[in-house]
Amino acid sequence: MNKWNRREVLAAGAALGALPALTLATETSGMLTKPIPSSGDALPVIGLGTYSVFDVDSTPDAIAERREIVDLLTASGGSVIDTSPMYNRSEKVIGDVIASRAARDDLFLATKVWTDGRDSGVAQMRRSFELMRTDTIDLMQVHNLRDTALHMDTIREWQDDGRIRYNGLTHYTAGAHAALEREMRKFEPQFIQINYSLGEREAEQRVLPLAREMGIAVLINRPFQSGRLFRAVAGKELPDFATGFAESWGQFFLKFIISHPAVSCAIPATSKPRHMVDNLRAGFGELPDEDMRKRMSDYFGTV
Ligand SMILES: NC(=O)c1ccc[n+]([C@@H]2O[C@H](COP(=O)([O-])OP(=O)(O)OC[C@H]3O[C@@H](n4cnc5c(N)ncnc54)[C@H](OP(=O)(O)O)[C@@H]3O)[C@@H](O)[C@H]2O)c1
Repeated sequence: MNKWNRREVLAAGAALGALPALTLATETSGMLTKPIPSSGDALPVIGLGTYSVFDVDSTPDAIAERREIVDLLTASGGSVIDTSPMYNRSEKVIGDVIASRAARDDLFLATKVWTDGRDSGVAQMRRSFELMRTDTIDLMQVHNLRDTALHMDTIREWQDDGRIRYNGLTHYTAGAHAALEREMRKFEPQFIQINYSLGEREAEQRVLPLAREMGIAVLINRPFQSGRLFRAVAGKELPDFATGFAESWGQFFLKFIISHPAVSCAIPATSKPRHMVDNLRAGFGELPDEDMRKRMSDYFGTV
């Protein structure tokens, strides 16, 4: 495959004109990773969400644009792509991107099952393999806790067959955290995926501590509150205290998330290569410590 090196990723970012030049202290190192508790395998801290942004017709131009985004992800040492049958054409587009680049091994593919009933779940999961043109799915998650018990049985059977590597549960609203907590205790998933950001801090109360206690890896969805965080800081400069670890608001938001000790990986969605470069850079350099995290949230509370 055409593997970009770190310097080329940075050059791509500069060429896209969105970001200032960045001097990296660790030019040769890859993206920060966290261990998946159930296996010890390293997971890169920044991934890619596909809700809406990959729901496009598979025209050559659309696939080339998404392939550029995926190439930026893997060239930086990232791997996680999150999707779902609920995201309409997204699984197919991921499959078309994989077919256009034949680098499946660089990706950690996470999708979901989102239907009622065992047979329907089996059919939907089979379809996900076909659409994404893969023999293995790295992470199969029960989307929004829909019919969890039935689907977890199937997922575990398929894990035994080697078709699925990890199982997980997802939700995206604080109102569902109590139900998620119950299902974490009951089903002991290897991953959960939840909403957490500077604008939505509820997961800190119970879900993130429980994930840590139970040894469950955590993907974070809605890291920008579906873009709302950018609107909240529109026209505002980054505070001086952040310049040592963030060069943009996107990196400020993402570093707040991935510096939480229970968080494994944030999955921001983007349709734009320059935003992908911006987001990926949050996976490098210093992470804020507890004091700095408090400062970040205090500051965000004032904007
Ligand atoms: N129940 C579930 O399991 C569930 C629920 C919700 C979400 N998810 C997953 O989580 C992923 C992320 O959540 P999300 O899609 O709701 O939203 P998000 O990642 O919080 O925000 C995406 C928005 O931010 C913009 N953006 C991205 N990077 C940016 C940057 N560096 N600078 C400025 N704008 C930027 C994107 O626009 P551009 O395209 O212009 O960059 C897009 O409008 C989803 O795609 C999905 O994979 C799962």
